[in-house]
Amino acid sequence: MTSTSVSEKDRVVIFDTTLRDGEQCPGATMTLEEKLQVADLLDEMGVDIIEAGFPIASNGDFEAVAAIAARVKNAVVCGLSRAGAADIDRAGEAIRHAKRPRIHTFISTSPVHMKYKLQKSEEQVLEMVVNQVTRARNLVGDVEWSAEDGTRTEHDFLCRCVEAAIKAGATTINIPDTVGYTAPQEYRALFEMVRNRVPNADKAIFSVHCHNDLGMAVANTIAGVQGGARQIECTINGIGERAGNAALEEIVMAIKTRNDIFPYETNIDTRMLTRASKLVSTVTSFPVQYNKAIVGRNAFAHESGIHQDGMLKNTQTYEIMTPDTVGVKSTSLVMGKHSGRNAFRDKLKNLGYSLSDNQLEDAFVRFKELADRKKVIYDEDIEALVDEKLANSQD
Ligand code: KIV
Ligand code: ZN
Repeated sequence: MTSTSVSEKDRVVIFDTTLRDGEQCPGATMTLEEKLQVADLLDEMGVDIIEAGFPIASNGDFEAVAAIAARVKNAVVCGLSRAGAADIDRAGEAIRHAKRPRIHTFISTSPVHMKYKLQKSEEQVLEMVVNQVTRARNLVGDVEWSAEDGTRTEHDFLCRCVEAAIKAGATTINIPDTVGYTAPQEYRALFEMVRNRVPNADKAIFSVHCHNDLGMAVANTIAGVQGGARQIECTINGIGERAGNAALEEIVMAIKTRNDIFPYETNIDTRMLTRASKLVSTVTSFPVQYNKAIVGRNAFAHESGIHQDGMLKNTQTYEIMTPDTVGVKSTSLVMGKHSGRNAFRDKLKNLGYSLSDNQLEDAFVRFKELADRKKVIYDEDIEALVDEKLANSQD
């Protein structure tokens, strides 16, 4: 099997875990009403699988998963569980009314987790893998199994676990980079290795799940897909444990923008990305950093004179995607101390001013003086300095 070969435009499914892994980041708790709003938007946006929560974690989580399951129209709704029977049964109960239910069950497979966290041997863990998947499969036809800390798991053991999970009925196999430790070439090779060595690998869909501890979550995610994974686990705005998860909007736009080298397709309506980002930021009270790729407020803003001049001549000079593709109305040429005459003239025109060359020059000098003193220049500031000058010149 040549695991890296992909037919043109292979479909990758998007598994959003904003409501589960995303909510696990300190301070991001959402109310039931807020979770329903997020779930509705994810479904409308074309997310394939919504991980709605961890039903055993609390009654609130159980109720949220159950309410989302009963309401979502298109997406698969998934509940997370550890390996224990009570966990799995609780997850099964919570997703019972979903149109397309899934149980996601996981156990740690790395030496450090098995020794210190689980205090179990490889053989004991392997037995638990079979039991957890079998139990989940008795409740639902769609079962995902995850090898927690998969990227720090010994390869022979990982392959034995994956083979056993598939044999027991897992339909999706997730190999998470739980601690954000891997790097793109290593993660890609891991999927190639597992898919080559596990004899029944073609019976399951492989999934990537990356954390951002070293800032490589998105790059690792795409590398995993290049290695043969066809499910991507991610969150809106990249929220999640510690440094967060891979950001949905970045992955989807990387695939869309560089489809020449990433020949995959997703079902996401990218025009809804900014709306989704704003909603998640509002309900979690987590601000989106200004320079965040795709959805940060500066993602389509240009301040330097050279860039603004280029943008006024042709937007392709400094933009690799158009703002409307991600639901932003327009590019903004932000007026600041780096802005040039062309952008200033354009701004005045948009504000309704028609100045002579001398007036423009004078206004530009005064604008630069102001910009040296003030971090942010609003339209009102520009209006004020031009109006004042025009009024004085009429005296
Ligand atoms: O990061 C992780 O390993 C997880 C699992 C529960 C899939 O979130
Ligand atoms: Zn995770």
